[in-house]
Amino acid sequence: MENKRRFSVREIREDFPSLRQLVYGKNLVYFDNGATSQKPQSVLDSINKFYSKDNANIHRGVHHLSQKATNEFEESRKTIARFLNASTHEEIIFTKGTTDGINLIAFSFGELLKEGDEVLITAMEHHSNIVPWQMLCERKKCSLKVLPINENGELLLEEIDQYISEKTKIFAFTHISNTLGTVNPIKELVQKAHQFGAVAVVDGAQSIQHKPIDVQDLNCDFYLFSGHKVYGPTGIGVLYGKEKWLEKMPPYQGGGDMIKKVTFQKTTYNELPFKFEAGTPHIAGGICLGKAIEYLSQFNFHDIEKHETMLTDYAQDLLYTFEDIVIYGESKHKTGVVSFNIEGIHPFDLGTLLDKQGIAVRTGHHCTQPLMDFYKIPGTVRCSFALYNTKEEIDFFISAMDKSIRMLK
Ligand code: ALA
Repeated sequence: MENKRRFSVREIREDFPSLRQLVYGKNLVYFDNGATSQKPQSVLDSINKFYSKDNANIHRGVHHLSQKATNEFEESRKTIARFLNASTHEEIIFTKGTTDGINLIAFSFGELLKEGDEVLITAMEHHSNIVPWQMLCERKKCSLKVLPINENGELLLEEIDQYISEKTKIFAFTHISNTLGTVNPIKELVQKAHQFGAVAVVDGAQSIQHKPIDVQDLNCDFYLFSGHKVYGPTGIGVLYGKEKWLEKMPPYQGGGDMIKKVTFQKTTYNELPFKFEAGTPHIAGGICLGKAIEYLSQFNFHDIEKHETMLTDYAQDLLYTFEDIVIYGESKHKTGVVSFNIEGIHPFDLGTLLDKQGIAVRTGHHCTQPLMDFYKIPGTVRCSFALYNTKEEIDFFISAMDKSIRMLK
C-alpha cells in the first residue's frame, strides 16, 4: 500500500501562498473554487522553472532543451493517464480546457453523425455542454434532446427512456453540476448510453477535483476536465477518449505536429495523441498540470472527498437557519457547491457585500441560463469549496451573511 500524505487542512493551506492575503483588510475567504482553484507552491515553482530553465518547443528539436521539454510534457501525459486510470497515455489529449474538449468531440465525433441522429444532454448542463451540441445538430441536421430534472435538481432518471433511443448517438452529461452540486450517477448513465449504442461523454470539470476517477471502471467513452479547476494553470485541459473512438475520429484542427506527411496533393495524419494536438501546445501548462495532479496524488482521495462533502453539508445546514433562504440543488448526492438566494435580495448585492468582507463567492447564472429559467431566477449566490477550505471560514461567512442581510433588508 502506497504511503499517502496525512490530510491536514492546516498544513495544506501552507502550500497555497495566495490564501495568505488580506482583501479590504480581512483574511481572504476563497469560496469560488468552482470558477477556478488557487495554486500550490509546487505548481507555481514548476511554472517558474519551466520558463527560467527548460523553455523550448517540443517534439521538434534534437537539441538538449527541446528534448528535456518534450520528456517533461510527455511524462505529464503519463501522470494524468495514471491518475484517470486510462488504459494508455495515448488516450490523453491536451486541450485548452473542458470547453475546448467538448468542441473537439462535437466537431470530430460529430462528423460520424448523419441527418436524423440525436444528441442527448441534461437540463443541468453548463453552456459548454449545450452550445457545441446545438452547433453540431444544426450542422448535421440532427436533434438535441434534453433529459429534465426535478425541483431538487436531480435528473428524472425514471423518464430517461422517453429521451434516449437507437437514434441517440451521443449522451453528454455533467458528473457534478457547477450550479447545484448534484452528483449524477454517471456509471448508470454510461450504461444507459451503451444500451442504445450511444457514446457517453462525461463533463468532469467539477468532479476531477472532488472525486477519484477511474475511466476504465466508469467505462465512459470520453471524460473531460480543465487544469485550472484542479489546482493547475489556466489554458490547459484534458480530453480522455477511448482509443477505438479517437482512431475513428477525423482531426479537429490541421497544422504542425498533427501530420505524418504533407504534400500539396494529400496529407496523412500523425498517430494518437498527436493527431488531435495541432500547433505548439501550452507546453508549460501541460507540464504544470502534471505537477498539480502529482500534488493531489499525495493524498488519499477519499480524505479530500470526505472533507469537501463535510464543508458542503456544514455550510448548507447553517444557511438553512436564515429566514427567506432558497437553496437550489437539494439532492442527497451533492458535493462542493451550495447555491442560494435570499428572497428580496439580488444575488449581485449580496455578493458585493460579502466581497467587502474578504469573501469571494460567484454570483450570476453560472453559465447555466436554462437552469436559471427552470427555477425562474436571474441568478444565485454560489459558494464552491476546495480541499483547503475550513469550517472556520464557513462560520465567518455565515456571520458576514448575517451582517449583509441586515444591511440589505
Ligand atoms: N464554469 C465555471 C464556473 O462554474 C467558470 O464558475
